[in-house]
Amino acid sequence: MEQTFLELRGLSKDFGGLRAVNNVSFSMNRNEIVGLIGPNGAGKTTLVRLITSILKPDSGSIRFKGQNLIGLKTWDIINLGIACTFQNMRPFRRLPIIANVMVSCLGPRAMKRGEWVKRIEAKAMDALEFAGISDMALEKASTLSQGDLKRLEVARAVATDPELLLLDEPFGGLSPAETDLMAKSIKRLHKGGRFGRLHSEGPAMIIIEHKLQQLMKIVDRIIVLNYGEIIADGAPEEVVTNKEVVDSYLGKGGI
Ligand SMILES: Nc1ncnc2c1ncn2[C@@H]1O[C@H](COP(=O)(O)OP(=O)(O)O)[C@@H](O)[C@H]1O
Ligand SMILES: [Mg+2]
Repeated sequence: MEQTFLELRGLSKDFGGLRAVNNVSFSMNRNEIVGLIGPNGAGKTTLVRLITSILKPDSGSIRFKGQNLIGLKTWDIINLGIACTFQNMRPFRRLPIIANVMVSCLGPRAMKRGEWVKRIEAKAMDALEFAGISDMALEKASTLSQGDLKRLEVARAVATDPELLLLDEPFGGLSPAETDLMAKSIKRLHKGGRFGRLHSEGPAMIIIEHKLQQLMKIVDRIIVLNYGEIIADGAPEEVVTNKEVVDSYLGKGGI
C-alpha cells in the first residue's frame, strides 16, 4: 500500500482551558499545495507548530511518509524534510543576511547529499535569489524591512531542502507588488527543477494566509479552521462560498 505523504489524525492541543486545536484530521499528497485559512486565533499557527514538533499535541497522531512525528525533536523533523517559516521573525540580526541562510544549510540533510561546506555559500545564495534578496546578501539582517525579513524567512526554510514546506503568512507585511513576486516564487518553487542547486522536485506546501485572492491563485485545496476545528476542506472556489466559512470568517462581502 502506498504511504500517505502527510496524515494527521484526531490532533488536539490545549493551552490551559483553551482548546487551540480540536480533533483535527486531514491528509495530503506529495504534490499538493494546501491553503490553511480561518479567523485570528483559529489555531492555524498552533497546527504548524504541532507538525514541526515545536509543540506536543495532547492527543492524536501525525505521520509523514509513514513515520510517526510525535516526540521527535524539531531538528529531526527538519532532517526528515519538513521546514517552516514563522509569523514572528527572529533572524540573527547582527549577522550578514547570507550567514542567516547558511545556518539552514548546515544540517545532515544537506551534507548527506554530498554538499561540502564550501558549497554552502552558493546554496545559500540560491535560496536568497529565490526569495529575491540576493543583492543584499552581505548586509546585516538588522537592516531588512519587514517585507524583506519575510523573504529571508522563506529563504532560510527553502535552504533546508524541504519536501514539505509550511509557510505562516508569507504575504504578511508585503506590498501588493511584493506579494505578487512572492506568489510567483512560491509557484516556481513548487514546480521544482529549475531552481539552482536546491531542488529536483519542488516541495509540497501548507500555506497559512489571510490574503485569499492571492492564495487562491496558488493552492489546489483550502482547509478552513475555526475555533480549532476544520469546518471546510476542498477546492478553493467551493470553500470560499461554503456557508459556514462565509458566516464565521469571510463575512457577506466574500473574499
Ligand atoms: N503558547 C501559547 N500559550 C497560550 N495560548 C496560546 C499559545 N499559542 C496560541 N495560543 C492561543 O491558541 C489559540 C490559537 O492561536 P494560533 O494558533 O496562534 O491562531 P492563528 O494562527 O489561527 O491566529 C489562540 O486563542 C491563542 O491565543
Ligand atoms: Mg497565526
